[in-house]
Amino acid sequence: MQAKHLLTLADLEPAEIDGLISLAIELKANRGAAEAKPLSGKTVAMIFSKSSTRTRVSFQVGIYELGGHSMFLDHGDLQLGRGETMSDTAKVMNRYVHAVVIRSKSHEGILEYARHATIPVINALTDRYHPCQLLADLQTIQECKGRLAGVRVAYLGDGANNMAQSWAVAAKLTGIQLTIGAPTGFYPDLDHVNTLAGSGSIRLTDDPFDAVAGADFIYTDVWVSMGFEAESEERIKKLTPYQVNEALVAHAGDAVRIMHCLPAKRGMEITSGVLDGPRAIIWDEAENRLHAQKAVLTQIMSNNGKK
Ligand code: CP
Ligand code: NVA
Repeated sequence: MQAKHLLTLADLEPAEIDGLISLAIELKANRGAAEAKPLSGKTVAMIFSKSSTRTRVSFQVGIYELGGHSMFLDHGDLQLGRGETMSDTAKVMNRYVHAVVIRSKSHEGILEYARHATIPVINALTDRYHPCQLLADLQTIQECKGRLAGVRVAYLGDGANNMAQSWAVAAKLTGIQLTIGAPTGFYPDLDHVNTLAGSGSIRLTDDPFDAVAGADFIYTDVWVSMGFEAESEERIKKLTPYQVNEALVAHAGDAVRIMHCLPAKRGMEITSGVLDGPRAIIWDEAENRLHAQKAVLTQIMSNNGKK
């Protein structure tokens, strides 16, 4: 990949997304069998200011499997937690490590960091975008359907959060037909998405049944993302009609597959019956975080990494 950083999916050309997915599928098939070690002798710092299970563990395992060393750094333990700026932190980290993976409370924070980074910066989730999750999602869809263009994805629930925003960018870059089923006030910031990934139609509807009709995949995420806890009550009230439950899935048809980035709030945005049911491909999706991120690390370090 040509871009130095992966801050949103729009840092990638459509052909680069295809290349990363192919590499991820290849790495998955060959896991453990004489893998290349492109990160040999390299240290990747992981600065996290929010909780994480999948992203943290899959990055650390992936970095190890690629021959590198990962260093997990909780934001609160660094001087960042006492007010040192992202830019000063970046200027120091540039001198020590070979890449940095950041989970940041604000997207502006990672942008500020990246402006001062001479090493690759990978977005491990901000309040606005989660590109690593999307790459794993796209890999999972490619594995199921053998293609991305023309595939119909219905995103239900909080259509304004980091996952929905990331889906909007992904749809524009891949030709996936995206419908967002959400109430007024919970749609993505399409003006911002358009500045990243150009125009292209994304269907918005406040009717959850209309949203899933004919969908190949139904995707959902928590109604209360990290950092939005104060709005819990209002969000639950407004988003309850968009729950992915048995009736909604039945409306989409037998072939539909269910996706969720996890962690899930069982009984809220998705029922346990659907999450554990035969149409869910959620655990494959979680596994693919590992393979997709190994592909990103391999590419970003080979083109932009310091020696
Ligand atoms: N999907 C995801 O990013 O999960 P974590 O918050 O557990 O990393
Ligand atoms: N939208 C969720 C995604 C978690 C992976 C959040 O930001 O909390």
